[in-house]
Amino acid sequence: MTLLQVEQLTVAYGSAGKGVKAVRGVSFQLEPGEFLGIVGESGSGKSTLGYAVSNLLRPPGQVVGGRVLFDGKDLLNLPKRALKQLRWAELSIVMQSGMNALNPVLTIKRHFEDTILSHATMPSRDIEARIRELLGMVEIDPAFMHRFPHELSGGMKQRVSIALALALGPKLIIFDEPTTALDVVVQRSIVQNLKALQRQHGFAALFISHDLGTVLEIANRVAVMYAGEFVEVQDAKKLLQQPMHPYTQALLKCFPDPQTERLEITGIPGTPPDLKSPSPGCPFEPRCTQSMPNCRTVKPTFVDLGGTGVACHVAVIGAAGGTAHE
Ligand SMILES: Nc1ncnc2c1ncn2[C@@H]1O[C@H](COP(=O)(O)OP(=O)(O)OP(=O)(O)O)[C@@H](O)[C@H]1O
Ligand SMILES: [Mg+2]
Repeated sequence: MTLLQVEQLTVAYGSAGKGVKAVRGVSFQLEPGEFLGIVGESGSGKSTLGYAVSNLLRPPGQVVGGRVLFDGKDLLNLPKRALKQLRWAELSIVMQSGMNALNPVLTIKRHFEDTILSHATMPSRDIEARIRELLGMVEIDPAFMHRFPHELSGGMKQRVSIALALALGPKLIIFDEPTTALDVVVQRSIVQNLKALQRQHGFAALFISHDLGTVLEIANRVAVMYAGEFVEVQDAKKLLQQPMHPYTQALLKCFPDPQTERLEITGIPGTPPDLKSPSPGCPFEPRCTQSMPNCRTVKPTFVDLGGTGVACHVAVIGAAGGTAHE
């Protein structure tokens, strides 16, 4: 059974939900154990989507359309108690500033105790053993459980946040930029660690990042987000080899690919659109090097091409065997 089904989810910031639409009709499915990467520039709505999917959105953010089914349950309309039971135990989130989310006056051990005891009763000896096991999983010496967050490095705090998210064996973990604030060596080691943990424990994940290289390394499938919408969803390997959307193609040129020895990097000229006044056409059109006349006036809809999908007039013509797409 599908673990997560997101249907036409729309989120707005502003009074009575009339302000900026930061997530616009996003739909996708996630199967048990699947790792979906969500990639896009800053402000494209990735965190908003992560919060909305886990029903953690706070005002002025508001879901103004769509629904989220988690394990068949209507997550956005669950009673508070049911939602509380579900958090950590079935669905957990590692926040964008996760390493700063630890409480500075509590030891690492207390963080785990609070999380575990909020859902289960367990003798203190068993809890301690479980904390040792969890810290071991994220490659932290269990002796650190007696320390306070300020006594740990940024990378260690992020690992603790990940271990907390794993503590009750959830079916789904949402990672919002879990490695962005860290140096590349620590980033890499955490990503490798996450991959191994996922293989061992089989949880499904939404892995949000603006770093396509990291996402391609860790995810089975990738959703590319632009101006609040999914513009391409594709198997990770295929996305690297045959990106369909011009935005995805441009993103791929933003990082070096050591495998093809392509080392030149080009940025994407221009800036994302102002979400307050969306144009009638494709939101990427002003920055697109392949645009056609109707791209300015007709908004492309997301076309499902059987497990993958794209929202682009040019790419759809290309997929149908036309000549407009290189
Ligand atoms: N608290 C808020 N109040 C008003 N608007 C907001 C708020 N938070 C986000 N937004 C709007 O939603 C858009 C998407 O923000 P979001 O944080 O989801 O983007 P993101 O893709 O996670 O960016 P980043 O890569 O910088 O984390 C922003 O461009 C902004 O216009
Ligand atoms: Mg974000």
